[in-house]
Amino acid sequence: MPNYSDFVQAYPAYDKTHDIDELRERDYARLDRLGHVYLDYTGGGLYAESQLRLHQKLLSRNVFGNPHSTNPTSLVATRLIENTRRAVLEYFNASPDDYIVIFTLNASGALKLVGEAYPFGKGCHYLLTFDNHNSVNGIREFAHAKGADVTYVPVALPDMRVDEAMLDGYLEQGTAGCADLFAYPAQSNFSSVQHPLEWIEKAHARGWDVLLDAAAFAPTNRLDLGRWKPDFVPLSFYKMFGYPTGVGALLARREVLGKLHRPWFAGGTITVASVQGDKYYLAEGPAAFEDGTLDYLNIPAVEIGLKHLDKIGMATIHARVHCLTGWLLDNLTALKHGSGAPLVHVYGPTRVEKRGGAVTVNFFDRDGKPVDHRFIEERANEHNISLRTGCFCNPGAGEIALGISKMELAACFTSPGHTQRLSYDDFRLCIDGKASGAVRISVGLVSNFEDVQAFLKFAEGLLK
Ligand SMILES: Cc1ncc(COP(=O)(O)O)c(C=O)c1O
Repeated sequence: MPNYSDFVQAYPAYDKTHDIDELRERDYARLDRLGHVYLDYTGGGLYAESQLRLHQKLLSRNVFGNPHSTNPTSLVATRLIENTRRAVLEYFNASPDDYIVIFTLNASGALKLVGEAYPFGKGCHYLLTFDNHNSVNGIREFAHAKGADVTYVPVALPDMRVDEAMLDGYLEQGTAGCADLFAYPAQSNFSSVQHPLEWIEKAHARGWDVLLDAAAFAPTNRLDLGRWKPDFVPLSFYKMFGYPTGVGALLARREVLGKLHRPWFAGGTITVASVQGDKYYLAEGPAAFEDGTLDYLNIPAVEIGLKHLDKIGMATIHARVHCLTGWLLDNLTALKHGSGAPLVHVYGPTRVEKRGGAVTVNFFDRDGKPVDHRFIEERANEHNISLRTGCFCNPGAGEIALGISKMELAACFTSPGHTQRLSYDDFRLCIDGKASGAVRISVGLVSNFEDVQAFLKFAEGLLK
């Protein structure tokens, strides 16, 4: 198997990222102490031990009360929450005149806020790429309920990118005077394709609002909201720096806020609500979208995480992920059985340009028959390798990658007994003979050459 010197010769930029090796030794020592080969950074990032210590110190040196008040402990909590909002805006280079930060549970919570409040209407459009997380797909239910047309833009094999001319055609179909929403991921959680940020301006120019899902992009790329101006940006912070879980955000452009109509009110979202008067007045800004009490003890840990990323430098993280992904792709695609049959098929780009650090594949035996992704996961588990299998909540990309047609799906969904209930096993049986999922290997913040080599060695062990 090619070694480290082959690697740095092929990817010399890796040599400039050794600060991360020191950081890993110092701040993520548990990874190597416990012998984990962590390759699911798209699923969740890993936290540094120093983030925990700083957060612990903050909690143990202060007294925090519920921020919905003006007593001293409440004010301390409010101040930290507002500081964190500012830190998030600064991190994304977003002007407070342009954007607000709404704290949510996770990216899905942010997406639901948009879905339920967006003024979809009859004759208007919800346009989205096949390649989207289910929490973006789910918005279509709000669109359907309000009579909007829902249209999916396909992605094309082998690279799983969108045909620009086709996208232009769809964007031309926006309706004047309508609320039309276009949603796509800055980086796919399936193929890791980075879809062009230029689409934002293109869609704006044709009157669309744009939802840019940055959940998979933000952990290893800088999203500059001074340069790009999507209307809605959902995020999960645990994907960026591992801790805390349970906090995400919706960055929303002030300009579109007035269009949104929340379907209810809750504690914290109003200035005044009356029982006898049957009336309520929505609060201004982020508060109108934050139901009940925020996670005020964990939100300050977001600022600690952002500072952690800034200290390492996104350029360094990005360069490292780029080199390791290239090496993984080069070597994994080179593995062949004795019969000459390739061990894997990659879904998505096999070159590192305009893609992120997740590599999604299926394994094949020496006769070219697919190996069940669950078998690969079981074998990887035995080697203490954490990877992800299935369709990663991205069924559109999965259906295109795996060649599952609309007709096949319709046959499964309408077969007797399956109009209301369908388990994953039922689904597998229904599309029998085809792979129903894939294996995703993703590198991130503190991945190193040894992690990738361990996986390549494991893969080599599957050759026959
Ligand atoms: C691209 C993308 N969008 C949205 C989400 C949803 O994130 P969460 O599960 O944190 O809500 C994910 C999670 O994997 C994702 O990868």
